[in-house]
Amino acid sequence: MIVVTGATGTIGRHLIETLTGLGRAVAPISRAAGPTAAQVLEGGGVEALFLHPRAVGEHSAELVRLAREHGVRRVVALSAMNVEEPDERQPSRLAGDRNRETEQAAAASGLPWVSLRASSFASNTGRAFGPQLRAGDVVRYTFRGFEESLVDERDLADVAVKALLGQAGAGVLELTGPQSLSHGEQVAILGAVLGRPLRFEEVPPEAAARAMIAGGMPEAFATALMDRYRRHLDRPQHPPTGVVAAVLGRPARTFAQYCASLVP
Ligand SMILES: NC(=O)c1ccc[n+]([C@@H]2O[C@H](COP(=O)([O-])OP(=O)(O)OC[C@H]3O[C@@H](n4cnc5c(N)ncnc54)[C@H](OP(=O)(O)O)[C@@H]3O)[C@@H](O)[C@H]2O)c1
Repeated sequence: MIVVTGATGTIGRHLIETLTGLGRAVAPISRAAGPTAAQVLEGGGVEALFLHPRAVGEHSAELVRLAREHGVRRVVALSAMNVEEPDERQPSRLAGDRNRETEQAAAASGLPWVSLRASSFASNTGRAFGPQLRAGDVVRYTFRGFEESLVDERDLADVAVKALLGQAGAGVLELTGPQSLSHGEQVAILGAVLGRPLRFEEVPPEAAARAMIAGGMPEAFATALMDRYRRHLDRPQHPPTGVVAAVLGRPARTFAQYCASLVP
């Protein structure tokens, strides 16, 4: 049995589907229904535990303790490339994500562990550009030249599967997409894949932040995001590491492949 926390999320859903397809017994954990992760661990017979930092919040150490007590053989934590940076440089902490604590709990577990340190998800572009794409072909966003290598969540889940099966080595894995792309290039690829004449119009960071806040993003999160862009303007943040391809034995999915997956 493999226990998957955050099972109803973007990564969790793909993870469950793949593990089930491989004939593995899975315990998907959700707040909505079913037993808690602690209850499943206490029941015994669990081979591996997947810790999702949003879903486990402050409980990772307790779950890892239960895992060790009940004979779990390995722990896999989802984490982030910025996990060693100060809290104020980790905007996701404002949303309750506990990447650092989750990774540290896995590392201190005394069990074989893997931490999946992910770069920014490809789906973040939906939050940045999505509402504008629904309104027309002009994308007003900031820092056209800011570059990073977005990782496709399906690749993250595929690596998580390998790690849960003990086939991805040990320790920290830094997981990125295969190409470093600027905001301007991301919009150009989206336009090419969607077959639309998208145009990137650069706006000041204050205007981009205001639009995101109006769309529901907490102000502190938007401010931290703009600060991140500003700090990394002179060189790409998180250039490609090649680890996804090394673990999976195939190339990481490109941003164009991610965009194609959005087309019905
Ligand atoms: N976005 C990025 O660029 C990026 C980069 C690196 C790392 N990460 C990390 O990746 C994680 C996001 O992964 P994802 O896209 O799979 O997340 P997701 O789609 O939001 O799913 C997370 C799951 O956790 C549960 N959950 C959500 N909020 C919760 C809360 N307050 N308390 C308890 N459970 C909660 C939900 O399950 P139920 O409602 O069914 O309980 C949800 O299905 C975050 O921890 C983030 O820090 C993100």
